Amino acid sequence: MKKQWQNIFIIGGLIGLGAIILFFAVQQVRGEISTPVDLSRFPYAQSTSCVTCHPGRYETWHQTFHRTMTQRASDESVVGDFDNASFA
Ligand code: HEC
Repeated sequence: MKKQWQNIFIIGGLIGLGAIILFFAVQQVRGEISTPVDLSRFPYAQSTSCVTCHPGRYETWHQTFHRTMTQRASDESVVGDFDNASFA
């Protein structure tokens, strides 16, 4: 009978410990999800890093306008005239 109570306390303790760990894990993830991240400070791979191993793919890609679709917006890359434009 005494052994049974011991087992119940051990199992109950483990469940309680698991619940506490889960609680803090959820809090951690919630904090990460709600915190905005400034992605501009992270470097990213550019097409020049692919050309060494994929020269044929790079060449056919470069012949299309897909090469221009992910440029940073600048006076040179934005060809439309949006001066004084307004949206209804
Ligand atoms: C160091 C050499 C190397 C570099 C650099 C490299 N790749 Fe690859 N890539 C490979 C190899 C090798 C494979 C084939 C892997 C396989 O078949 O399992 C592959 C496969 C691929 C595939 C799959 C192609 C298919 O038909 O399944 C894509 C997409 C790809 N690479 C894109 C890129 C892009 C985008 C970059 C640049 C950001 C890049 N790779 C840079 C070596 C490279």
